[in-house]
Amino acid sequence: METKTILVDKNENVEKSYSQAVEMLRSGEVVAFPTETVYGLGAVATDLEAVDKIFKAKGRPSDNPLIVHVDSKETAMEYVVNITQKAEKCMDAFWPGALTLILTAKPDTFAANVTAGLDTVGIRVPDHPVALELLKQLKKPVAAPSANTSGKPSPTLAEHVFHDMNSKIPLVLDGGATAIGIESTVLDMTCEPPCILRPGQVTKEQIEEVIGMVRLSSDIKGNAPKSPGMKYTHYAPEAPVYLIEEDARLIEMAIDHVHNEGKKVAVLSHHDFPNADFDFPLSAETLYSSLRKCDMIDVNIILAAVSSDKQKDIAVLNRLEKAADHKWFS
Ligand code: TXA
Ligand code: MG
Repeated sequence: METKTILVDKNENVEKSYSQAVEMLRSGEVVAFPTETVYGLGAVATDLEAVDKIFKAKGRPSDNPLIVHVDSKETAMEYVVNITQKAEKCMDAFWPGALTLILTAKPDTFAANVTAGLDTVGIRVPDHPVALELLKQLKKPVAAPSANTSGKPSPTLAEHVFHDMNSKIPLVLDGGATAIGIESTVLDMTCEPPCILRPGQVTKEQIEEVIGMVRLSSDIKGNAPKSPGMKYTHYAPEAPVYLIEEDARLIEMAIDHVHNEGKKVAVLSHHDFPNADFDFPLSAETLYSSLRKCDMIDVNIILAAVSSDKQKDIAVLNRLEKAADHKWFS
C-alpha cells in the first residue's frame, strides 16, 4: 500500500484534503491526523474491522483500549452513560483539550476492540483545527491511539508517522509539529475520588481546582495498573535509556565512565553537556523527537537527567521512566 502525506495547513485545496480523509475513514480505512498532543492513528470507532487495522498497523496488543475522539461535549454525551457532575465540569473546563476522561460507555455502541472488552471508554475532544474539522465533517467518533509503532516514541511530526506507518496505512494528514508533544492526561471518572491513570499537560492541581481531590494512580500502592496501556514497554529508542539525577558533576562523571568503555553517549537534560557525544534539551515538546533522533545517530547509551524531587514535570518524568524501564545509571 502506498502511503500518501497531505500537508493540510498550507494547502490551497484544504477542502479536498478533508474530503479524501473523510471518504477513506467512511470506507473503513485508517488515517493518521495531528492533534495538539501527538499524532493519532484514526478509524471509525464503531467499525470493528477498521479498528482492527489500527492494531495491526501499530502491532498493538489487543488488550490495550483506544481513546475515542469526538468533536464536542454534546457528541460525547451521545456515547456515554452515568455522567457525573464532576465529569461534566471537567468537559466544560478542559475540552477541547488534552484531557481524556474514562467514562461508562453506552452498551453496544463502540466496536468491542476499541474498549478491549471493558465497559468503560476513554474519550476526548482534541484541541487541533485539523482534528476538529475532520471530526466535524466525518460526523462519527474516531478511535485513535498515538500513530507510532507499539513501544516506540509517539509521533510529534508527520515524518515520524510516515517513518513508522509507511506502506501500512493510505493517508497521513500533515498539520506540522504538535504543540504539546506528550499524550493527554487520562482521568478515570468511574471511581471516587477520580484517578489520574496517565499524567499529562493538564495537571492534578488544575483538575483539583475544578472538581476537588483526585488521586494519582502511581500513588496507589499495590494496585494492578487500571490503565491497561501502562504495563507495556513505551517510548523506547534502540539504545538503552538510563535515568540519572540532574546533577552536573554526576553527569560529567557518567559521560567519562561511558567514554572509558569506548562507547558513545547522548544526554537529555535541561543543561548543556559539551563533553557528551550528543546533547538534547529536555522538554515535553521535544522529548519524543529527541528519542527518535537517537535512533538515527551512532550512540550506545542515552542518559536522561531527571530531578526525582521535582513535582512540576511529572508527565515528562513518567515518560522517561517508561523509556528507561525505570533503570537508573550506576
Ligand atoms: O493524547 C493522546 O491521548 C493521544 C492522541 C492521539 O489523542 N492518544 C493516545 O492514545 O495517547 P494511546 O492509545 O496511545 O493511549 C491510550 C491510553 C492507554 O494507556 C490506554 O490503556 C488508556 O489510555 N485507556 C484507554 N481506554 C481506557 C479505559 N477504558 N480504561 C482505562 N484506560 C484506558
Ligand atoms: Mg501510545
